[in-house]
This record gives sequence, structure tokens and C-alpha cells, in this order.
Amino acid sequence: MRGFFGKAVTAAAILAMTTSLARATDVEVLHWWTSGGEAAALNVLKDMLKGEGIGWVDMPVAGGGGEAAMTTLKARVNAGDPPTAVQMLGFDIQDWAEQGALGNLDDVAAKEGWDKVIPQAIQRFAKYDGHWVAAPVNLHSTNWVWINKAALDKTGLAAPTTWDELVAVLDKMKADGITPIAHGGQPWQDATMFDSLVLAEGVDFYKKAFVDLDPAALGGSQMAEAFNRLIKLSSYLDANFSNRDWNLASAMVIKGDAGMQFMGDWAKGEFLKAGQKPGTDFVCIRFPGTQGAVAFNSDEFAMFKVGDDKKAAQEAMASAIESPKFQSAFNVVKGSVPARTDVPDTAFDDCGKKGIADLAEANAKGTLVGSMAQGHAAPAAIKNAEYDIVTGAMNGKYKDGAEAAKALADAIAAAK
Ligand code: BGC
Repeated sequence: MRGFFGKAVTAAAILAMTTSLARATDVEVLHWWTSGGEAAALNVLKDMLKGEGIGWVDMPVAGGGGEAAMTTLKARVNAGDPPTAVQMLGFDIQDWAEQGALGNLDDVAAKEGWDKVIPQAIQRFAKYDGHWVAAPVNLHSTNWVWINKAALDKTGLAAPTTWDELVAVLDKMKADGITPIAHGGQPWQDATMFDSLVLAEGVDFYKKAFVDLDPAALGGSQMAEAFNRLIKLSSYLDANFSNRDWNLASAMVIKGDAGMQFMGDWAKGEFLKAGQKPGTDFVCIRFPGTQGAVAFNSDEFAMFKVGDDKKAAQEAMASAIESPKFQSAFNVVKGSVPARTDVPDTAFDDCGKKGIADLAEANAKGTLVGSMAQGHAAPAAIKNAEYDIVTGAMNGKYKDGAEAAKALADAIAAAK
């Protein structure tokens, strides 16, 4: 009898052990990479982890900028069950770290020398209080324009380098019978377009307004001009722009139904997924007036505090993400550029090579700024107040740019 009991206990113990072992080598990942191009990039990560014996439990929550994903995250954390790793941006990482929710990646970071190869601008968000709390995947940038090459050629004009040239191309595309700008009317997309317009007013102005939250800059004449231009651009959209997903807007440009899209370089992932080639099928340029400057965001996997059993998988995931091999393979597909400075640009297409060179230049010149739209300029409460005014301006709420700028200054003062 005793023998039988002993055996039964042993079997149960073995079962428990194998179950917990299986779970310990899995990572449950919350992310918003759900479009075709994003899924292709995500597969690079899943495959790499699989090769290292790490299983993937998928938790996708669609929506660029990650707002919906962050709402889901809050519910999971409140229920006492955070995912292992969470795609996260900028100030959100700092907020969770401040609340003591994130783990610590210092050991793996020290072993692999992350401090030396990951730029300060990225470390500023991936570290909290001097400790690594997130694994940076990439660096994206919002001040890009994605143009259908055939539609541009048809205008007989060159790719625009100034505001006036941009307006001339848009007018010609309209006359040619296509929708000049493919856009999705969602607050984060409106804000993405606005990032570029404010950056075109100058890097110093952008910093003063979006990073320092200087009331005079927020409510002044340059901000009014940026809003006037936003209102002007809103006249080039099609009737169905409201609430369209960003990747469907990219598809309009890919198909030639629209001329161009103002969007971060994740849009390139959609063009590539559709088999299109830069320079042949589409053209990538910096938003006119922002050449030499980069408004960036960095996708990072914030690692939540988990039991010791799951920590090894977290560290293995972080280590795989920071490997130069992954940084090249993933970012080539994703449209972003590596989060480390020592990855060769050889595997990247011309837009990717330009992105890498632009980043190096901006980093050296001090023209690398955190994207307002992507939560890298100010914390969420401020960002959301900015979204409200920008979306209002896109939808005819203010009689002109000056009124919108005043509303912005007031909204920020209230949110501070
Ligand atoms: C992320 C990108 C993503 C885009 C659209 C951004 O917030 O940084 O990685 O592709 O949203 O989903």
C-alpha cells in the first residue's frame, strides 16, 4: 500500500515538474503587431526563439501606438497575472517601472555589453533608475512619406522637398483623379502626421513644444502654422478616412488608389509584404522640411516581474532580441532600423540604409527627437491631451490654426 502511495506521489510530482518546466520555457507576449508586414516580422522573432527552445504564447491586441494593448495590459496586471513580455513605448515603460511592476535585465545586459552598443536615446526608455527593465527591438521613425512611384511620375514633378512642392504634388494628384493622401482617421495616426508638421517648424521648436511643454511654443504662431498645414492636408483625404486602420491606408498607396501616406516606417513593412520595391514601386522621403531630423520611437519588450521559473525564458528572449543577427533579420522585414549601432546595413534596402544613416546623423547633430505621437516626448496623460486637440483640428473643430494652438496650450496646462 505504502509502495503504491509512494509511486502515485512520484508520478504526480513528475507531472507537476514537467508542466512547470514546459511553462517556464514559454513566453507569453502581449503586442500589437497584427498587420501583414508586422506579422511577417514577428515570425522572425518567433522562429528565432523556437530555435532556442522557447515557446511562444501569443497575445495580440491590434492598434498602432498600442493604446488598446495598454488597456488590456492594465486589466491583466490588475488581475495579478501580467504577461511575460509586453511590447511597449517610451514613457509607458517608465510609468510601469515607477510602479515597480517591471523586472531587471541587468545581468544579461552586462554580460552582453548592451550599454556600449545601444544608443543613449533608446537607453533613456529601456532603463529605469539605472537598471535595464526592457529589451529594445528597434528604432522606428514617424517623419516619413511613402509615395506611389507611378502616381508621382504621372504628376511630372519631383519628390517634394519643401511644403510648397508638397502642395503642388498633392494638387496634381488630385487633378489626376486619385486620393492624394491615404490616411486613417484615428487619433494616433492624426498625431503621427502632426509630428512631422511640428518638426518642420524646426527641431528646437519641436523640443520646446512637445518635450519642454513650453506654453508660449504650444500656443504660439509656429504651432498655429503647423495646425493650419494640418487643416490644409485634411482637404486631400478621401470621404472614408474616418477610423481606417493604418495598414489599409498603406494598401491604398500600394494599389495606386492614393498617392502617398504620412506614416512611420512600419508602413514599409506593408509595401515589402506586397512584393513592392523601394525606388521602383514606391518612394520613401523624409517629410518636406524635416530632412536631417528624426522623430523616433523604439519598440521595446518590457519584462514584467515574474516568478524565478519564468525569468530564464525572459532573459533568453531578451538576449535573442539584442543579438546582431536578430536585429538585422527582424528590422529588414519590419521597416525599422536596429536598436544597436554596430549592425551592418548590408541586408537593408535603400530606405533602410537611409534610415540607418539618418539616425546616425541626427544622433550626432542633436536632431533626434522623441515622437509625440508615439509616446516618446511626454507621458500618456499629456499625449492624450495632444491627441484630442490634433484630432479636433483634423475634423474641423477649430476655425483656424491659431484657435487650435490656443486650445492645445490650454489642454496641456490642464493635463500637467
Ligand atoms: C509601433 C510599430 C507598429 C505600429 C503600427 C507603432 O506604435 O512602434 O512597431 O508597427 O505602431 O502598429
